Amino acid sequence: KADFQIRTAVLTISDKGARGERKDLSGPLIKEMMEEIGAEIVYEEIIADEKLEIKKALIEISDQNKADLILTTGGTGFAKRDITPEVTLEVIEKEVPGIPEKIRAETISITPQAALSRARAGIRKKTLIINFPGSPKAVRECLEAVIEIIPHGVKILK
Ligand code: MTE
Repeated sequence: KADFQIRTAVLTISDKGARGERKDLSGPLIKEMMEEIGAEIVYEEIIADEKLEIKKALIEISDQNKADLILTTGGTGFAKRDITPEVTLEVIEKEVPGIPEKIRAETISITPQAALSRARAGIRKKTLIINFPGSPKAVRECLEAVIEIIPHGVKILK
């Protein structure tokens, strides 16, 4: 467990989730996995696949230093409204390509469709932002691939 605070925001990005048509299982799974390593969940929200809403949430949390880490789930695929990676690229100041590279490298043998996720990661101010795909199965596989390296990155940013 980390010996410092990892204030974590979990953003579920899903039209159906935001409309209440689909129960969000991915956000709670991220929460559970992060709490296991001692992180503190300070913010949880379900937002639609809308550029301005996603952007607003990412900017507010990082610029007001409300969290050290923002983990998003959903909107990384090929569907027309999937825009999470593009919005992430618009708001980050530095990209961290190694995080999605490690995720895809380690999960592609379990699920070849991992190559269909366009997820990105990067830094805005003192906040690390990481995209994850939408399904709980994908979240589990992908978060497992990087959960051990996240604390070190967060510690340096603080
Ligand atoms: N990555 C892993 N490790 N495991 C998975 O099951 N699902 C893929 C991919 N990445 C998956 C994965 C699928 S089927 C899609 S469509 C994309 O993530 C995008 O998912 P999203 O649009 O819900 O973000």
